Amino acid sequence: MVTNTLDSPHITELLDRLFQEAEASEEALQAVAQSDVSHLLTSRTGYRQLYALLKDIPLPVSRETGHLLYMLARSTDARHIVEFGTSFGVSTIFLAAALRDNGAGRLITTEFEPSKAARARENLTEAGLIDLVEIREGDALETLAHDLPVAVDLVLLDGAKGLYADVLQLLEGHLHSGSLLLADDARLCQEFVNRMRSDAKRYLSVPLAGDLEISMRIS
Ligand SMILES: C[S@@+](CC[C@H](N)C(=O)[O-])C[C@H]1O[C@@H](n2cnc3c(N)ncnc32)[C@H](O)[C@@H]1O
Repeated sequence: MVTNTLDSPHITELLDRLFQEAEASEEALQAVAQSDVSHLLTSRTGYRQLYALLKDIPLPVSRETGHLLYMLARSTDARHIVEFGTSFGVSTIFLAAALRDNGAGRLITTEFEPSKAARARENLTEAGLIDLVEIREGDALETLAHDLPVAVDLVLLDGAKGLYADVLQLLEGHLHSGSLLLADDARLCQEFVNRMRSDAKRYLSVPLAGDLEISMRIS
């Protein structure tokens, strides 16, 4: 029998609630967006200031991106996944559900806002998926600099946009031929996108609708 953990009633309800919470926080998000923070969006140094302002705002991937993540992880039979940017754990739920349906695996995700890491833990526990997930609390530049699986099959980049290229550098030695990377908010991480598209010997990289960039390690 083919299993789709995402269809479990308790996960459907949880995701509905989390997406509703995100919708309800739209006004608060707009208020931050209208304050003078645009220079922090792509900054490699000011990101802590930005995300402190956003610490109560969920900022999840879209439902479509969540389903895409689930499909990518299932279709590649991913066993080891790394996620940069946990927030309340919405994308983490989609990815961990895929690991569950793949039969096994481990997802390392990282978040530097303690209250968000705690919310993600609660949500993953409620989803019944926490056993597959390691939440590393702290700055990804430190938390992803050690103890990674030898081979990482799938990466989601969804933290500070100015750091995508730096996080890639930390993960690069763990990617294998066929590893996939999905970068959300691609228009805000041009350094990363340029790097992926210009390194044709190592990566194939194309834009997707929804401001995503999908890249595959070739060799
Ligand atoms: C867009 S949200 C992630 C949303 C999440 N992927 C989801 O779908 O629910 C980005 C998150 O990354 C966190 N973050 C940003 N830069 C980070 C860094 N350098 N290290 C760890 N976490 C970071 C922020 O606090 C924020 O919660």
